Amino acid sequence: MRYPSAWLDELRMRADIVQIVSSYVPLKKSGRRYTGLCPFHNEKTPSFSVDAQKQLYYCFGCKAGGSVIQFVMDIEHLDFQEAVRFLAEQLRMPLPELQNDPGYEKRRSLKERIYLANQAAAKLYHQNLWEPQGGEVLAYLKGRGLTDAVIRRFGIGAATGSLRIGDALEKEGFTQEELLAAGLTHGHEQKAQDMFFQRAVFPIIDAYGNVLGFGGRAMGDAKPKYLNTADTPAFNKRYHVFAANLLRKEKGLKRVVLVEGYMDVVALSQFGVAGAAATLGTALTQEQARLLSRFAPEIHLCYDGDAAGQNATLRGLEVLESQRVRTRALDIPGGLDPDEFIRQNGADAFLALKPISPVSYRIRREKEKYDLGTEDGRTEYAKACAIILKAVREPVELENHLKQLSVDTGYTREVLLKQMGATKETRNTYMPRRTGFRRNAKAEKPADMSSSTVLALLSAGKLPKDVITPEDFEDPDLKLIAEALIRGQTLGALLDENATDSLRQAVGAILSVEIDDEQAMNMAQECFAQAKRVKLEKELEEIERRVQNYSNEDSLKQAQLQRSLEIMQQLKALKLSRKSPL
Ligand code: GTP
Ligand code: MN
Repeated sequence: MRYPSAWLDELRMRADIVQIVSSYVPLKKSGRRYTGLCPFHNEKTPSFSVDAQKQLYYCFGCKAGGSVIQFVMDIEHLDFQEAVRFLAEQLRMPLPELQNDPGYEKRRSLKERIYLANQAAAKLYHQNLWEPQGGEVLAYLKGRGLTDAVIRRFGIGAATGSLRIGDALEKEGFTQEELLAAGLTHGHEQKAQDMFFQRAVFPIIDAYGNVLGFGGRAMGDAKPKYLNTADTPAFNKRYHVFAANLLRKEKGLKRVVLVEGYMDVVALSQFGVAGAAATLGTALTQEQARLLSRFAPEIHLCYDGDAAGQNATLRGLEVLESQRVRTRALDIPGGLDPDEFIRQNGADAFLALKPISPVSYRIRREKEKYDLGTEDGRTEYAKACAIILKAVREPVELENHLKQLSVDTGYTREVLLKQMGATKETRNTYMPRRTGFRRNAKAEKPADMSSSTVLALLSAGKLPKDVITPEDFEDPDLKLIAEALIRGQTLGALLDENATDSLRQAVGAILSVEIDDEQAMNMAQECFAQAKRVKLEKELEEIERRVQNYSNEDSLKQAQLQRSLEIMQQLKALKLSRKSPL
């Protein structure tokens, strides 16, 4: 059930986004945009911007963004329909009847079908856990100390017994193709097999409640220990985190506790520690750092206490700092992981762990490498710390570190300061970047830069629609954006229909393109046209080669000739558009 899209378009149009955002955030006009301090993350310099013309808001810092409806959802903590009602009331627009639109069902992208299939699968797995055939998994979870309540909170399930998720979901109306695309099954369509078998399954759910995929833990020592859904159109391990759905529900969260394992998240939650999340079996990425920074002003890295966890912490701190996220590390004693620690010592002991600054954490790790009982050890340790300390901006903090270092090494603070000055090597990555968000945003997806520029031109009506087709874009999000713009949908409407972080980021990249920068624009357009020309010319050659093998009556030949005509027309249009002044 949904509101008619024409009515939603009108709502988005009549709700002046600048005015509505201004009632929550002071905005200043700056060129084409309005800017202010982002209400969704902690910042001192404005990276939040509202585009009146496109009726979109976007934060170049935390990558929150979307239409006015999304803004109301985020700031008032409402779901989509509540936000629509909230706005309609303010605008005195009578609510239309909710519609059951069959055309809409058809238009649902594969991604949405995957969400639905995953949701249905999560339900079946979870039900199965409480059946006799789920007994082995249930006993395993209980054996690891999980309560019924926490099992339900995370929707943990069992892929065991006679449950065949592929067959069951086909009966619910999903096609084999969709199930394969969702990663719920694998192999060939005719004899596709369930992906998860003899495993406890943890649904991975995003902040909007979409079930993106699953992590499956083997029973006992079977290998691999964890099997995660492979990347699908709806799921990318680099962009999502485990338990985002629960983070979203925490109001006024002071910090996210980022751990390594799903079981760690579950344990912390069971013991009443709010705000736990985990990456999806890979090292922390920039995208995840930004995603997490939207839920709380600080992120505490709480990885396993073993050597691997410590190295992952050092890398994670750099990633978080490069995204200018306030960050701390929690050092778990005894080489334990958070799950083991909290079960052995309780919630109070966990909460008593002192979060330490990235610099202190690095110094602590360096200290373990050297034998401070020898002069060589003290010298090398002092040198290593001098490099780390160059990143400390606050003089008082620097003083604290210098005092301690002086005690540990016997060098005076003057010598240590000199050592810092003498060190050419700076750990640039330790320093907060001050280069402005726009450049960062572009740097992330260099390959898509010209594509973003082209789409920015298209959305500004500065490019004829017929020179572009969605197939010109490799990136699924850019493809989606191209489709929307070509059929005349606004970016705000598109984002309201597809609330995913990756799409939001793609739109953000488009918003950050300065349309006034004529030279960059021409270049991007030319690159893009060139890439497209090459592609089309290749196809044309291919057709010409193929056509020689067909007889004249062959209908295939006719189709191929038809296609080559189309290509030639497109090539011509490309040439024309090159000459047309923008
Ligand atoms: P257990 O407590 O043993 O159930 O696991 P854990 O939650 O402590 O996880 P661990 O610290 O061993 O690993 C952390 C995370 O890395 C897991 O939650 C998974 O996301 C991922 N991971 C671990 N083992 C594997 C594996 O064999 N394959 C894959 N793809 N990921 C794994
Ligand atoms: Mn563990």
